[in-house]
Amino acid sequence: MAFSSSFHRPKKPHSNMLSLIPSFHTVLLFLLALSAVAIIFLHTPALSPCSTTATASSSRRAFSGDLRHVDFSWNSLRLTSDRPPPTALRIAVFSRKWPVATAPGGMERHALTLHSALARRGHRVHVFTSAPSSGERPPEGGEEEEEPGRPRLHFLSDARWRCDEAWGLYEAEAARGGPFDVVHSESVALFHRWARDVPNLVVSWHGISLEALHSGIYQDLARGPDEPMTPAFNRSLAESIYKVLSEIRFFRSYAHHVAISDSTGEMLRDVYQIPSGRVHVILNGVDEDKFAPDTRLGDAFRAEIGLPGGGAALVMGVAGRLVKDKGHPLLFEAFSKLASRHPNVYLVVAGSGPWAQRYADLGANVIALGPVPPSKLNGFYNSLDVFLNPTLRPQGLDLTLMEAMQCGKPVVATRFPSIKGTIVVEEEFGYTFSPNVEALLEVLEKVVGEGKARMAQRGRACKEYAKSMFTASKMASAYERLFLCIKNETYCRYPSALLD
Ligand SMILES: *[C@@H]1O[C@H](CO)[C@@H](O)[C@H](O)[C@H]1NC(C)=O
Ligand SMILES: *[C@@H]1O[C@H](CO)[C@@H](O)[C@H](O)[C@H]1NC(C)=O
Repeated sequence: MAFSSSFHRPKKPHSNMLSLIPSFHTVLLFLLALSAVAIIFLHTPALSPCSTTATASSSRRAFSGDLRHVDFSWNSLRLTSDRPPPTALRIAVFSRKWPVATAPGGMERHALTLHSALARRGHRVHVFTSAPSSGERPPEGGEEEEEPGRPRLHFLSDARWRCDEAWGLYEAEAARGGPFDVVHSESVALFHRWARDVPNLVVSWHGISLEALHSGIYQDLARGPDEPMTPAFNRSLAESIYKVLSEIRFFRSYAHHVAISDSTGEMLRDVYQIPSGRVHVILNGVDEDKFAPDTRLGDAFRAEIGLPGGGAALVMGVAGRLVKDKGHPLLFEAFSKLASRHPNVYLVVAGSGPWAQRYADLGANVIALGPVPPSKLNGFYNSLDVFLNPTLRPQGLDLTLMEAMQCGKPVVATRFPSIKGTIVVEEEFGYTFSPNVEALLEVLEKVVGEGKARMAQRGRACKEYAKSMFTASKMASAYERLFLCIKNETYCRYPSALLD
């Protein structure tokens, strides 16, 4: 099996990680203990190489050839975005939702950031999406006319997604304005029935079932001893294996796949058996103007939320929905223990959900902010020494980790393939932990032991990496190049005399 050889690859020692690099023996024991289902799945993380070893990054720099065959992320290529594209593309986008709410999901934010950038570059972008629900303000973008610089939005009659209706609108637009160069589907917005016959289709996967199966395993393991497994959870866990099987069968007929993390790319190639020339890794990006280091802003935010200025030994922060599968039971327990030993360590909690009240009851060391509006997020990240994300369900790639790193903050996150393979790829960037209270507490103790100054130093390395990988402009350049390459093979060559 392929996983055995991956252990012979030279790896950077991750001495600060909790689990030792598993010996082959340990892996064998593990595999024996798990079902066949788990075997298929669990060997995948071992296939993720530490992607920024010196050799890996120099081979990226040296890469030349057909872009369709690169297996690392396109974000690390030097694709220029300062000159206009050689041709304006006509792009159709299928997205179940288009951001209207104040706190849109990661997939919607990605769609908006990407397609607004492509429209600004002069491409003609048409978005097929569900209507805003009643009470929501209409989103930005031209609704009626094809307006240069903005995506043209085509709304369904209803807030509920109906693929057949969206397909009808798409066909009408193709009949009116001519065929599209590329059809882009955000996850399964365009259903298989229509998608399988589209030769110039690109699907971006914001989470696949194999990742859902992994998170199901972690969620069950994180269940307390007195907490019964609900029948609904048991059913969904059992069903997830059939979802993986079904995805493996139907994904193959999609023309091009974009994986938004390195590990998803490996799963699509290695487990889903999609030829590597049709799997492309393009990481999501965050707006580098909205998230940047700013000490003054961070201090102002601390004062505003009542954090003791110089009195705090260390400030940790967490953001997102405060629900069980985001790992809050683990963080709650680990942090209450930590706070009893270190009264000067603070936790700032941004977001709402069932765990909000418990955090609020934890005492003076926790500042529960409730939902933080997007305009305040930069201040929030900047007020921290370290950002935590204990998620048990990291489908796709969590934008909060990228945002924190763009603000120059180190991160502590669950040891998942996507996080290890794309985010915390260097020891310097922070810590990963196995999702249990002891492991998390041990990492938090290390963070406290290292102190603020060391966190700030780690944060600078994070910013450098984030700048080189996670910017919205890098994401947009990568998609633009992929779309050009799908229109005309000449543009698949890299570097290209015409473009690079
Ligand atoms: C979960 O479902 C399986 C069968 O799919 C059953 O064997 C097992 O006992 C169930 N576990 C719980 C805790 O309900
Ligand atoms: C592809 O692009 C190149 C360079 O712009 C051009 O010379 C060629 O004619 C194009 N091919 C097709 C099939 O459009």
